[in-house]
Amino acid sequence: MLPQTRYTRTAIALHWVIALLMAVNIALILLVDRYPDDWVRPAVDTHKSIGITVLGLVILRILWRFTHRPPAMPGLYGAFERFAAHAAHGVLYLLMVLLPLSGWMHDSAWKDAGTHPMYLFGLFEWPRIGWIMAIEPTLKETWHTVLGGVHAWAGYVLYAMFGLHVLGALKHQFLDGERELQRMWPGARG
Ligand code: HEM
Repeated sequence: MLPQTRYTRTAIALHWVIALLMAVNIALILLVDRYPDDWVRPAVDTHKSIGITVLGLVILRILWRFTHRPPAMPGLYGAFERFAAHAAHGVLYLLMVLLPLSGWMHDSAWKDAGTHPMYLFGLFEWPRIGWIMAIEPTLKETWHTVLGGVHAWAGYVLYAMFGLHVLGALKHQFLDGERELQRMWPGARG
């Protein structure tokens, strides 16, 4: 049997759908100050719904990753490069969980969460995290701020890791002459 040179179709689909949803979610929220007033609430609600969807997809992706071995890295890569790639992928998985989870926790610590239920894409009510909502109000306000900070900082780390991830892929593709992008490109041949 030929050695596997590409990720499975499911892994490729999850990679690009999650990347796209995260990019849209970041653009949506970073532009929030430019929207007319009556767009702000729907935009933040859509941000929350996309984020929860990402959390679900990331859980699927991690389960898929544990049950499906990725293609081996090309032999040309040295020990440091292998380590750096694995470490960067590990941090990216961590951020893919931390971003939506910290957002959900931050939103659950919002003082008005009890009177403003969250609806997933306006379809059905999505629960807040009960034990966070139950925290005593002054302490909860502190947690709201701290979790908002974690959420924002996870975003900054994500921008840096995303940059490294893309630079690494481009280096392998164009400087090392490996068929790197083909490993994760939808429809490409191995
Ligand atoms: C793909 C997952 C997510 C990404 C990449 C993401 C990213 C971000 C970023 C970059 C910001 C701006 C932070 C700043 O610089 O101040 C933000 C704000 C926020 N996020 Fe998320 N987020 C995600 C999921 C969620 C989820 C699941 C929720 C809640 C259920 C949520 C709730 C919020 C709230 C309430 C804000 C503040 C919005 C405002 O200005 O009123 N996020 N998010």
